Amino acid sequence: MKKMGTAVVGTGFWGKNHARVYSELESTELVAVCDVNRERAKAVANQFGVKAYTSSSRMLKNEDVEAVSVCTWSTKLAKEALKALNAGKHVLVEKPMASHMKQAEKLLETAENSDLRLTVGLLMRFIPGLQHIREAVENKKIGELVCATAKRVSQWPERIGDVGVVKDTAIHDIDVMRYISNEDPIAVYAKTGSMMHRKFEDYAQIMLTFEDGKSAFIESNWITPYKTRILTVTGSEAIMRLDYITQELWIEDAKENLQPRFPWREPLKLELQHFADCVLEKKKPLITGVDGIAALKVAEAALRSSAKNRAIKLK
Ligand SMILES: NC(=O)c1ccc[n+]([C@@H]2O[C@H](COP(=O)([O-])OP(=O)(O)OC[C@H]3O[C@@H](n4cnc5c(N)ncnc54)[C@H](O)[C@@H]3O)[C@@H](O)[C@H]2O)c1
Repeated sequence: MKKMGTAVVGTGFWGKNHARVYSELESTELVAVCDVNRERAKAVANQFGVKAYTSSSRMLKNEDVEAVSVCTWSTKLAKEALKALNAGKHVLVEKPMASHMKQAEKLLETAENSDLRLTVGLLMRFIPGLQHIREAVENKKIGELVCATAKRVSQWPERIGDVGVVKDTAIHDIDVMRYISNEDPIAVYAKTGSMMHRKFEDYAQIMLTFEDGKSAFIESNWITPYKTRILTVTGSEAIMRLDYITQELWIEDAKENLQPRFPWREPLKLELQHFADCVLEKKKPLITGVDGIAALKVAEAALRSSAKNRAIKLK
């Protein structure tokens, strides 16, 4: 079987996991890693027996590298992803994809013009229970979708210093709301603020409204002493609740409370396997550059809404 040669740019907390998974999957081969921090690059390269680089430009000259995961600090993602696309590599760029819309649009345009796969690390979509919710909403198994509520709270992950909780954390739930409703919100209203973080917001409450009256509420913060990641979806006939951490799913209606069991799966493994399948079989990824841009657009509008203290129309 042909393996996809892969590389990881940025081998910090998350990039290390990309490197590990590429080395574990049967259809991928980790070829190289790169980090501006030489020690970090070397440590991960030694662990997996691959070459370490501190310059991505040099690493991208390696013809064995067909695809690249970009896992740098959030404000450096777009620049590194563009470099990789310009070098003819397929790219998985971590969320939030870019620092602003223009950069994100440039990535999409470059990938499309070069017939390269571009996907964005909006990982929640690979959790089996969320896919089950998406199908249940689409097939109206819970009746008409009324609203969805997401809670994603924890302590401040101190290594994150270049974006706030909206672009780092709430962006997952913004994408989830687009995914389960299969549409883009028409307006956003948000309140954000900072309790501990000096430069960026560390809490956010975001309300999204959709055509025909559906709505979504997102509570995200880095000021909670414990970690919770929960989604509740209310339909006219039943309620679905997902715990992203344990991957448990509950479905409740007036008569019964069901708990369908799915074996726990590592979402990153499913995500990178899907990326490899898309590259090797020339398929469109489940999460496209368009999805990344749409999520970023809502995140930016949420920050604007809070700053201006009013709802922002998106359509
Ligand atoms: N999808 C998810 O669930 C998920 C989870 C965690 C992190 N992330 C994303 O992954 C990215 C990295 O997050 P992290 O927690 O690993 O941060 P981190 O600070 O632990 O690691 C980032 C690494 O990138 C390196 N780096 C920065 N700029 C670089 C460049 N231009 N070239 C090469 N290396 C560079 C840094 O030296 C550091 O080692 C962020 O964009 C974050 O949003 C996604």
